Amino acid sequence: MAKLAVFASGNGSNFQVIAETMLKTSHSLEFLLCNVKNAYVLERAKILGITSYIVNYLNRKREDVDKEILQYATGHQIDLIALAGYMKLLTPFFLSAFHGDILNIHPSLLPKFAGVNAIERSYNAGEKKLGISIIRIDPGVDTGPILFQTAFERPPHASLAEVESKIHELEHVHFPSVIIKELDKIEIRSKDQAGGMK
Ligand code: GRF
Repeated sequence: MAKLAVFASGNGSNFQVIAETMLKTSHSLEFLLCNVKNAYVLERAKILGITSYIVNYLNRKREDVDKEILQYATGHQIDLIALAGYMKLLTPFFLSAFHGDILNIHPSLLPKFAGVNAIERSYNAGEKKLGISIIRIDPGVDTGPILFQTAFERPPHASLAEVESKIHELEHVHFPSVIIKELDKIEIRSKDQAGGMK
């Protein structure tokens, strides 16, 4: 069993599918962390019976917030964090202090359209190929190593809403499956390490 935390700031459709998929595995979704106190993702966590923590960034140094987040992560012995629409950057302090992996889902074919409003920007730029990326995060904005990408040809007259919904559909299939694969690897690694210590 490996332990996951999901960080999200908004609607939480990815959080929902991750949570539902996790129920079919031996791994544990320990908590949701959210920085927006009225975000719909908190409602989803409540309905699913998943612990949630709300962090407040207002008038605080980002590093102080990250110290608080680190306490939740270490308190729950988190192995993997999945950023699923988390609209804040984690500090280099957090990235070096957290002894686990951190994945992020991004709705474009990175390195193209890093940053916010990626779907709209790639749609407006007339991109013929659209898609999603799952990366391991580093201190930059959507610059970490790419673990997974999938693309589709943009249909000639597709509206922005149609493209958005196709992208979310892909996210909902692939993000949970990449997360589970990572958790499986972490579990095998820790069993090997425990075996090696005997
Ligand atoms: C997703 O499109 C994800 O790629 C991006 O933020 C969005 C979150 O959507 N990083 P939701 O809150 O999971 O519905």
